[in-house]
Amino acid sequence: MTMQLHGRVAVITGAGSGFGREFARLALKAKMPMALADIEPMALAAVVDEIKGAGGAAFGMTCDVSQAAALEDLAEATMNTYGAVHLVFNNAGVGSGGLIWENSLSDWNWVLGVNLYGVVHGIRSFVPRMLACAAKDPSYHGHIVNTASMAGMLNAPNMGIYNVSKHAVVALTETLYQDLRLIDAPISASVLCPYFVPTGISASHRNAPSSVASEGQTASQKAAAILSSKAVSSGKVTAHDVALRTFEAIEKGQFYVFSHPHALGNVQTRMEDILTMRNPSDPFAARPDLRENLRQAIAEAARA
Ligand SMILES: NC(=O)c1ccc[n+]([C@@H]2O[C@H](COP(=O)([O-])OP(=O)(O)OC[C@H]3O[C@@H](n4cnc5c(N)ncnc54)[C@H](O)[C@@H]3O)[C@@H](O)[C@H]2O)c1
Repeated sequence: MTMQLHGRVAVITGAGSGFGREFARLALKAKMPMALADIEPMALAAVVDEIKGAGGAAFGMTCDVSQAAALEDLAEATMNTYGAVHLVFNNAGVGSGGLIWENSLSDWNWVLGVNLYGVVHGIRSFVPRMLACAAKDPSYHGHIVNTASMAGMLNAPNMGIYNVSKHAVVALTETLYQDLRLIDAPISASVLCPYFVPTGISASHRNAPSSVASEGQTASQKAAAILSSKAVSSGKVTAHDVALRTFEAIEKGQFYVFSHPHALGNVQTRMEDILTMRNPSDPFAARPDLRENLRQAIAEAARA
């Protein structure tokens, strides 16, 4: 199914920074009225002002996507303001690392709350309303983009919670796609799987709840933060490039969207591990220096 974006209503979570802000800028070019949501009021207001200043139609809602009621309020406000919803980006997300047994329950609740339940709540609040729009309009086309990650396709060490949350988003989105086909809905779906792209993701703890912030970080968590910051800031593909690829994918009805398709060799290796019942391959096989850097960073953080 292909989709014409011009004039359709878009909803974007995590719109205050990174990919979300770039989606909003492209939605503006397509003259899409939009509902923008983020947990950071100032960053969100700046994007809403930018869109409105450039002649676009937008409203902002400060919300925490881990709360079901927040997505209900966003969906209700979108319908009340624009009378329809066509394109939903469940994009807000946070990163957190560390050896998997060192992550606290607060870490799990925070990251799964935002990365997984944020998408669950988005699906539960918006899909029924999109189906209702489709029932009233025979020309209706809708599309949902869930932001997962390459971490939803691979399982690198020292980033367990994030891997789990993003694998779950891939599973959820593949199932969503099949469920929509099953009922012949005029709605499609894509899963966006970026690799390292410079955005605010490595500073995710700025939005962590006090239960996470008050616990401090273990050596492996500190090492994860340092290396994630280096990897993200050295990314050459920009958030704008990724947003462009995503909009092209929506228009073409393409499901899988990758920022770095050349990194898919690691996914192939993982699939071959499964198909041949081989034990999991080293995700750093092509870059043994990365495994060594990670070991050293954990040891250094433990000594500090
Ligand atoms: N940048 C990367 O390298 C990369 C790679 C793979 C996946 N991703 C994913 O991309 C998505 C967007 O992240 P980004 O890279 O643009 O980072 P970012 O930090 O620049 O943007 C994320 C936005 O989400 C908002 N947010 C955080 N918690 C929230 C909450 N509870 N409720 C509502 N909003 C919240 C933040 O305030 C921020 O504006 C995330 O799902 C992230 O996991 C990023």
